[in-house]
Amino acid sequence: MNNVLKRLDKIITTYQGKKGSLIPLLQETQNELGFLSRETMEYLAEKMQIPAAEIFGVATFYSMFRLEPQGKHLIRVCKGTACHVSDADGIKKAVVDALQLAEDENTTSDRQFTVMEVACLGCCSLAPVIMIDDRTYGKLVPEAIPAILHQYISETSNE
Ligand code: FES
Repeated sequence: MNNVLKRLDKIITTYQGKKGSLIPLLQETQNELGFLSRETMEYLAEKMQIPAAEIFGVATFYSMFRLEPQGKHLIRVCKGTACHVSDADGIKKAVVDALQLAEDENTTSDRQFTVMEVACLGCCSLAPVIMIDDRTYGKLVPEAIPAILHQYISETSNE
């Protein structure tokens, strides 16, 4: 049996027949597989005997669910008010330029980075702010972005 399906079946066994288990089921599936593909959701629907539309509805409603593969490093660019007035747009552009992302892309083709905009990260006194994985970078200027990203690029190429 396909390895992914085996992993899915194990998760399904934990939640089968339990009421209100759709969100934890999707969370655990995402933790295991990295994101929720259409095929994955259809498989869950069939095995759990839940309408596929209900699963798609929940997965698209909650922002914690990812429907596309995500890069190894997640870059959150704060677009909250304090950051917005401190040139968050310039910071975002510097990130996008440094990663050479096209306008409609948010994940690099090597799947090393995903960029997303978020509302306030909770440290407005450091505006403008980005977070890369669990680390916060504040009081940024666009010129600082390439050097910050470079640390992650070299860490990746040393693996
Ligand atoms: S607005 Fe960016 S951290 Fe609060």
